[in-house]
Amino acid sequence: MRMEEIIRKKRDGGVLSPEEIDFVVRGTADGSAPDYQLSALLMAIWFQGMKPEETARLTLAMADSGPRADLSSLPGIKIDKHSTGGVGDKTTLVAVPIAAACGVLCPKMSGRGLGHTGGTADKLEAIPGFRTSLTEAEFLDTVRKTGMSLMTQTGEAVPADKRLYALRDVTATVDSLPLIAASVMSKKIASGCGGVVLDVKAGSGAFMKTFADAEALAREMTAIGRAAGLRVSALITNMDRPLGKAVGNAIEVEEAMEALRGGGPADLRELSLALAAEMVRLAKGGTAEECLARAGRALDSGAAFETFGRMVECQGGDRRALERPFPLSTCRLELKAPRDGFLTRMETGEIGTAAVLLGAGRSRKDDPLDLGAGIRILARPGDRVKEGQPLAELFAAQEELLEPAAARYLAALSFGEAAPEPQPLIWARTGGD
Ligand code: URA
Repeated sequence: MRMEEIIRKKRDGGVLSPEEIDFVVRGTADGSAPDYQLSALLMAIWFQGMKPEETARLTLAMADSGPRADLSSLPGIKIDKHSTGGVGDKTTLVAVPIAAACGVLCPKMSGRGLGHTGGTADKLEAIPGFRTSLTEAEFLDTVRKTGMSLMTQTGEAVPADKRLYALRDVTATVDSLPLIAASVMSKKIASGCGGVVLDVKAGSGAFMKTFADAEALAREMTAIGRAAGLRVSALITNMDRPLGKAVGNAIEVEEAMEALRGGGPADLRELSLALAAEMVRLAKGGTAEECLARAGRALDSGAAFETFGRMVECQGGDRRALERPFPLSTCRLELKAPRDGFLTRMETGEIGTAAVLLGAGRSRKDDPLDLGAGIRILARPGDRVKEGQPLAELFAAQEELLEPAAARYLAALSFGEAAPEPQPLIWARTGGD
């Protein structure tokens, strides 16, 4: 079999056979397929798409490109949660402890931020002493003691995705439905969990810009997961605005802790509870209403915050730090409204890029992060503002990072005379078992 023939077939709109897909994934994982041929194939897939059966085969081949995690020493079904990536999305830090406090076992591996979207593993490193790199024994032990653990993907997990994702990031091929579906679901299948709740983001801050595209992605991921024997539920949620009011690392953990103490922005609370309720439903059954009520009790009683604190302690972190404001970078700029009117729209991907410019995210895989950099959003779409009123506070380690980020942020905003139509936070739920 020859790579150039496979590339030509896909370029011309053909359907790849299971053997051809297995050949590509083998070559990706063992290094025998060079970057330039894989990049050409990724671009051909971006243009031509894949049939559902091709995407399903790609997913399974990727899931088996490294060892699958063995969670069988933990009793019963284990539930994972995955977001397709957004701006200000810190729901893992809230939803997972809620689900764990409801008795759901949540051993969760999290990724790092890339492009304009943040990653949970980076955010967690803002907690003093907290270790996101654990041995398998430490990971399982933390779940046994607290119901949950959050760690980074280990070196050998799904090596084909690691290589393809890095290539996609630099070849403008991230936003492809089959490639996202295969990337996400290969990791979920390899994670060893029996169920997964997917948060599929739609809007200007998401890879899928429209509801229709996000719905198609949710359906495909759900079908792939179920065919692999997983319980899957997917929410399609609004990423036309950042979630909550904090974008960055330390600043997002601080906001997540506020939510775990029963406060924080209403959208963060609503989505975290909805995701946690789905995790409870997949693990334990019950109606959507019952599971939501149960999640609400776990949050409002303080049980979820206590669960998170115990997990932090088990992973070497200082749980007292969760009660205090997190230190932010010392250079600060307050961004003022240029005019009177309603804030009508935010190009949310650009808000994420402004945070990257401040040092809160990476442009390249190995860029260093400033965990204290970020944005506190003071006005959101729908708010009426007066000229000169603060719209956002920006934090960075160096003065010279502030101005370019401020310009990017301001250019991402639209103002008008009338309030925009309110949009729902949760657009739809697909599946449910
Ligand atoms: N998240 C992933 O893990 N993979 C993608 O391709 C996109 C979002």
